[in-house]
Amino acid sequence: MSTPILIATTNRGKQREILEILHGIPFELRTLSEFPGIAEPEETGSTFAANARLKALYYAEHSGLPSVADDSGIEIDALDNGPGVHSARWHGTHYPTKFAAIYRELQARGLPTSPARFVAHATLADRGAILAEAIGIVAGEIAREPRGTHGFGYDPIFYYPPYGCTLGEVDGARKAAVSHRGQAFRQLRARMMADPRLLDR
Ligand code: IMP
Repeated sequence: MSTPILIATTNRGKQREILEILHGIPFELRTLSEFPGIAEPEETGSTFAANARLKALYYAEHSGLPSVADDSGIEIDALDNGPGVHSARWHGTHYPTKFAAIYRELQARGLPTSPARFVAHATLADRGAILAEAIGIVAGEIAREPRGTHGFGYDPIFYYPPYGCTLGEVDGARKAAVSHRGQAFRQLRARMMADPRLLDR
């Protein structure tokens, strides 16, 4: 039987994307739905790297499986690179309300838009050790208004100039081809493929 790997995220949007990106690797992909008893860890880190490591190590310890986790978020130039690591809970969890808060902040600075980027730090951990890590960044700008129903989170307000639309307007494959998470998990995937003994126990 192939080695199992836990996709250690409770975020359905992220889970779907990571499963798609890692599809076809010679490891058995498992999800947290099989581990309902594991409580979510507190994300106490002040960087994406610290939180990704914390989550991967925590879920590996509690599931007993090699685990991959990402910590990710949006950095908006005009908001001093915020909300960054606070993206998930900044102004709550209702995205139209969060978008309105961003547009208010931009308006207060007299700006219709701002350069922005999505950042993802992905970590693979097993038995107390970090086995591999990777970072992905995609640059874009805040759209003049939300557009699109694909993806999740801030995708409808993330305008990606090379596509001429927001990441909420493209399907999963087109997003993954350029996204922060696509870049980070393709690097982890390459690392695992190059060294299948990485996860030997
Ligand atoms: P985390 O689960 O603490 O890493 O929070 C990540 C948060 O960043 C998500 O809940 C979203 O708000 C935002 N985010 C990260 N990646 C994406 C993406 O690919 N699209 C849109 N929003 C994202």
